[in-house]
Amino acid sequence: LNMLYRALQFGLLGGVVFTGYSMWETRHPPTQESFDPSKKTIVVLGSGWASTSFLKAVNTDDYNVVVVSPRNYFLFTPLLPSCTVGTIDVRSLVEPIRFITRHKSRDVKVYEAECTDIDPEKKLLTIVDSSDVKGESSVSTIPYDYLVIGVGAQNQTFGIKGVEQYGCFLKEVWDAQKIRTKLMDCIETAAFPGQSPEEIDRLLHMVVVGGGPTGIEYAAELHDFLVDDLTVWYPELAGKIKITLVEALPNVLPAFSKQLIEYTESTFKEQNITIHTKTMVKEVREKEIVVKKSDGTDASIPYGLLVWATGNTMRPMVRNLMNKLPESQTVRRGLSVDDWLRLQGSEDIFALGDATATKYAPTAQVASQQGKYLARVFAQLATTEKLEDELASAPAEEKAKKLRKYQKSQDIQPFKYSHQGSLCYVGSDKAIADVPFAQGNLSSGGVATFAFWRSAYVSNIFSGRNRWLVITDWTKKTLLGRDISRE
Ligand code: FAD
Ligand code: NAI
Repeated sequence: LNMLYRALQFGLLGGVVFTGYSMWETRHPPTQESFDPSKKTIVVLGSGWASTSFLKAVNTDDYNVVVVSPRNYFLFTPLLPSCTVGTIDVRSLVEPIRFITRHKSRDVKVYEAECTDIDPEKKLLTIVDSSDVKGESSVSTIPYDYLVIGVGAQNQTFGIKGVEQYGCFLKEVWDAQKIRTKLMDCIETAAFPGQSPEEIDRLLHMVVVGGGPTGIEYAAELHDFLVDDLTVWYPELAGKIKITLVEALPNVLPAFSKQLIEYTESTFKEQNITIHTKTMVKEVREKEIVVKKSDGTDASIPYGLLVWATGNTMRPMVRNLMNKLPESQTVRRGLSVDDWLRLQGSEDIFALGDATATKYAPTAQVASQQGKYLARVFAQLATTEKLEDELASAPAEEKAKKLRKYQKSQDIQPFKYSHQGSLCYVGSDKAIADVPFAQGNLSSGGVATFAFWRSAYVSNIFSGRNRWLVITDWTKKTLLGRDISRE
């Protein structure tokens, strides 16, 4: 018993020392090797799921690496809907990209800039500082040996009039902040003296367009905020707040199983969230949306806040690159790549994540697996190059052996996606999950699935620091409720 007690003491002490050292090491990274002109340079575009998981895994002993992204951080998108109502603080979901690059063995250059043009012939990029603060130099060109495109996609509007002007998207940190501010503004404006009952109803009507996972999770978070907090702080208005979700297809969440679609729709009904399916938004005006209903007639729906979540479309820079490679880039959804993520029509450009048009859904799961995979491809390319040099200088008697080794190194396995399942929060501490199980699929929904949803997301958060911040936010929300101040 005494020995067991001693072992426990040592184990505990070891754990404390290890955690303490890891925390210290995170804030005091060692000195890095400097840029090596004799090595090839990989330029990585973007700091999202695809590029960041590539960056984490790529071996900078083999390459110089440069990152170009208009935002200097990685954003953990799966929990972004929680930021629209203050369940989680946006700062808890972002990780500065320099926290990652500073821990690589070689110095990685980071440019907070947007890539506006790629010249695949000259292997040159045009980058522009698109931030508010600009110095004397705000446009530049940089060369690359290899280019990794992980610029994601932008919000799809289908060119519908008024969406950009009046709708709020939910993709970036500033989108969540804008939604939160506008929501509180609508409620406070509804409380202004002399407001007519019709105007109060309009201001308190929160409309979500798009019944994909983004729209569903936003509506769910808004419902929780209403029930947990707004009813307490706005007792005279909370009962008038209405949430409506508009979806063009016959049901929401088309990518989930039938059972989970029904579960979501019935949960929304219990939560008084109205779903209008087979209803297509045709136009967005300042205070109302015009929809085409299933019977073919048009109707107008007044709103105070409009959240637009109808999926992705490609970025102008991606379209521009595709126009330069018209013979190989023919799919209009995004960049075409081969099974090794190499851009069709180019030898030294790779693309991954939402910027590409592949057989996979545009999800973080796919993008992060592709990033890790591509880092392995680059490791193998580095090995091949070393072996090529060794082969060239090898004595005659070793040539055959070296050649076999070199040929073997060229055999790179294609990308294989491993689906870990789909999860979606549906409100009232309930979530749904479609998880591959044995040869089939396991569908589940409810409170236990919510616990699974939380633990799955927490364990997928990239850094220990962010994991800690998210858990703290959840605890704070449970103990103190959400903040209703306007940002
Ligand atoms: P992104 O993560 O969008 O990153 C693109 C990067 O490129 C950004 O850093 C951007 O600033 C940068 N960039 C843009 N333009 C340029 C340019 N011109 N030059 C250089 N850089 C540029 N997926 C899941 O699997 N599970 C989920 O639970 C989930 N939840 C989601 C919730 C929300 C609210 C949203 C919006 C999406 C969610 N997704 C989820 C989808 C997931 O976020 C995307 O599939 C994923 O972000 C795609 O990764 P990416 O790296 O391709 O693009
Ligand atoms: P989505 O493409 O999944 O869904 C958009 C929905 O909007 C579609 O159902 C479409 O029919 C509808 N729509 C389009 N135009 C419309 C119109 N004019 N009027 C009414 N409805 C209209 O888009 P979403 O939800 O933004 O997701 C994008 C990607 O991110 C998907 O691949 C999704 O799987 C992923 N994602 C995953 C999450 C998760 O796993 N929990 C959470 C959020 C996003």
